[in-house]
Amino acid sequence: MEKDIKKILLSKEDLDLICKKLGNTISNDYKDKELVLIGVLNGCNPFMADLMRYITIPLNVDYIVVSSYHGKESSGVVNLKKDIYIDIENKDILIIEDIIDTGRTLQMISELFSHRKANSVEVCCLLDKPEGRVIDFNAKYVGTSVPKEFVVGYGLDYNEYYRNLPYVGVLKEEIYTK
Ligand code: IMP
Ligand code: MG
Repeated sequence: MEKDIKKILLSKEDLDLICKKLGNTISNDYKDKELVLIGVLNGCNPFMADLMRYITIPLNVDYIVVSSYHGKESSGVVNLKKDIYIDIENKDILIIEDIIDTGRTLQMISELFSHRKANSVEVCCLLDKPEGRVIDFNAKYVGTSVPKEFVVGYGLDYNEYYRNLPYVGVLKEEIYTK
């Protein structure tokens, strides 16, 4: 795996600091609310696992599975493959995602939960790729921005691989052009 990485963007230590900062902010912002973290599988894992341990207020967790990506290019169509189990009416939803690129996935998911009478729906993303945006959608909480390059590790994949790297790195172009 290591040989396929062009450069490391975020080390283990950088990622821990990001989770700590976001966790503090979220704990503060949601202290009088009914917080429910909804992770977007599979990319939210391990970010969500690390982030939630820095959130110090009571919360519930659930997960959804969507598909929009095939290899390196976004397909533009977002399918809900697995829904949540819990009732979110009057709850304060925080969607946890690995990266926001075109913005389509998160816009679709946010609309879905808003229609179910959640009290509030916000998004927390580890990474933001602002240059990739094709619709006007932004996350309230963002770990950090990344350039318009294909990144993997710490949950982010290329064809389902590299999710287990402990850091976020840029994938060598020859991997997805071969
Ligand atoms: P969007 O709908 O284009 O915003 O796509 C978001 C989804 O695309 C994320 O959940 C990721 O799975 C995937 N994605 C976008 N950019 C990258 C990347 O650089 N590496 C890995 N996955 C990515
Ligand atoms: Mg994903």
